[in-house]
Amino acid sequence: CNVVVLISGSGSNLQALIDDLRAGDTPARIQAVISNRADAYGLERARAAGIPAEVLDHKAFDGREAFDAALIERIDGYRPDLVVLAGFMRILTPTFVRHYQGRLLNIHPSLLPRYKGLHTHQRALEAGDAEHGCSVHFVTEELDGGPLVVQAVIPVQADDTPESLAKRVHVQEHRIYPLAVRWFAARRLQLGERGAMLDGQPL
Ligand code: GRF
Repeated sequence: CNVVVLISGSGSNLQALIDDLRAGDTPARIQAVISNRADAYGLERARAAGIPAEVLDHKAFDGREAFDAALIERIDGYRPDLVVLAGFMRILTPTFVRHYQGRLLNIHPSLLPRYKGLHTHQRALEAGDAEHGCSVHFVTEELDGGPLVVQAVIPVQADDTPESLAKRVHVQEHRIYPLAVRWFAARRLQLGERGAMLDGQPL
């Protein structure tokens, strides 16, 4: 399974994937890491792991369509079976999402469908939620709205801040994202007509 990972920042989820693939016998290989920001620390993580690390700066393009077209070309050069969004902070065009339908995964720091978009930890706290967490989902045209693959739940504590929550959610992200990639690489995970399927059963 050829994997291309898209990042914009720290890349701790990328690191979790690198470590998991290195440690196990998953039939998957990260062919490249592409960032829209030259200063993304995840690029260094990729290089340290011997993975080609590239920058495609969205600011060099005239609009989303042009950027996404260039991004598709760059990604497809690696013949990916799976494209993994790991903190890629760009809204993708319908053209892009359709091009990778069924082979595009994202991780989001909330228990979707709650708190799509930004500032999820803050919003969970403000709502007084007893539980919070993260979700891996197939990407569709609806932002953070695609079929769920796996979630991890953590209890919210009385003294939690957005930062403390983020920290504990990240630990769970690093657990469930590699799990989803393993499933996909083993051909156990698919996007069916009515949602995500694991071993032929709806999730
Ligand atoms: C994570 O919180 C992820 O859920 C969100 O962006 C963040 C990326 O973190 N989509 P990192 O760059 O993997 O450390």
